[in-house]
Amino acid sequence: MSRELKIKAAEAAFGFVADGMRLGIGTGSTADEFIRILARHVADGLSIVGVPTSERSAALCRELGVPLTTLEETPELDLTVDGADEVDGDLVLIKGGGGALLREKIVAAASAQMVVIADASKKVDTLGAFPLPIEVNAFGLGATRRAIEKAAAALGLAGAITLRLAGEKPFATDGGHLILDASFGRIPDAKALSSALLEIPGVVQHGLFIGLAGAVVLAGEGGITLLRR
Ligand code: 5RP
Repeated sequence: MSRELKIKAAEAAFGFVADGMRLGIGTGSTADEFIRILARHVADGLSIVGVPTSERSAALCRELGVPLTTLEETPELDLTVDGADEVDGDLVLIKGGGGALLREKIVAAASAQMVVIADASKKVDTLGAFPLPIEVNAFGLGATRRAIEKAAAALGLAGAITLRLAGEKPFATDGGHLILDASFGRIPDAKALSSALLEIPGVVQHGLFIGLAGAVVLAGEGGITLLRR
């Protein structure tokens, strides 16, 4: 997705922001554009506070002067704006390409509304071409991976389940966990897979976002498309 389209999606999502709002602030290159737009409006007098969904987004917000809070100080948010890796017609998402899925899901769940900003190519009929990120505890990694394979097989799903790396080392999330990327290819029943994964003790969270997004702003060459639930 070109930077220009990311900016267009982020600008359209800014239309959901109102003065005084408590915002969830997403992670990723599209969310970064939203942070930049937000920062310009804050400099012009907009009053908001934000809970960032990653250390990376927190650092950008601090650098640009976007006021931050925490879910301890501000446990209920008005709106979260975040990116996604895939979106289906029911506004179910795959997220976690940037490794921030746990904080992203906690923040989205604490928000009255979640608006997703994405490239039109991220809209799919069936989720799963993008490998599903699964955040797992480092303890028992082999057993957890095996349990995921078995749970997936029971649902007719199969594919490589790969430990995400950062260079030569395992990628560590902001919470100090690991990520397994599951290449299932197609996920026809996201709810069933979500429930099965969450039954596995070593699974901390997964990147299927079900019933969280209320609107999706898709930026394409033909303009902006708004999907609503
Ligand atoms: C991070 C995410 C991102 O929102 C997702 O990966 C999309 O990123 P980008 O806007 O860079 O395409 O879920 O965990």
